[in-house]
Amino acid sequence: MVIAVYPGSFDPATYGHLDVIRRASVSFDKIIVGVLHNSAKSPLFSVEERVNILEKVTKDISNVEVKPFEGLSVNFARENHAHVIVRGLRAVTDFEYELQMAQTNRVLAPDIDTVFMTTSLEYAYLSSTIMKEVASFGGDLSKFAPPEIIEAVKWKMHKEK
Ligand code: PNS
Repeated sequence: MVIAVYPGSFDPATYGHLDVIRRASVSFDKIIVGVLHNSAKSPLFSVEERVNILEKVTKDISNVEVKPFEGLSVNFARENHAHVIVRGLRAVTDFEYELQMAQTNRVLAPDIDTVFMTTSLEYAYLSSTIMKEVASFGGDLSKFAPPEIIEAVKWKMHKEK
């Protein structure tokens, strides 16, 4: 049984993240999506909200689980008996940071490998930050995330005003 973790901020998840989760769920027996609780950052959604959102939009994929985590991704992987960390690569601009992270993780945990999935072309430009930017100006979010997530973003932004 090959278990992979997919760690990230997911604030909130986009179609780009869901594309990686769906494709990784075909290549691995189990995918555990790890939602980072980072007290140094102030995300739009709490970690519980991000987990709930991801659970809702991945409920049709039987081998996906969503969990919050704190601390190092390699520790999260070990706690979940995973030897693979999955990350999405959108463009060359992601590469330097992702390579540094993968190499650091390899130094910390030589038994855990990072596997990169190239994001599908239609989502190559997309990020949670871009989606929040468009949302803050009332733009159309339908190309960025499923309706459940769009509703959550609108509700959250309306509440914060
Ligand atoms: O979605 P993001 O914000 O690009 O995800 C980044 C994430 C959560 C994968 C990364 O920040 C991370 O692994 N954080 C946990 C701390 C850690 O393990 N750091 C060591 C790698 S440099």
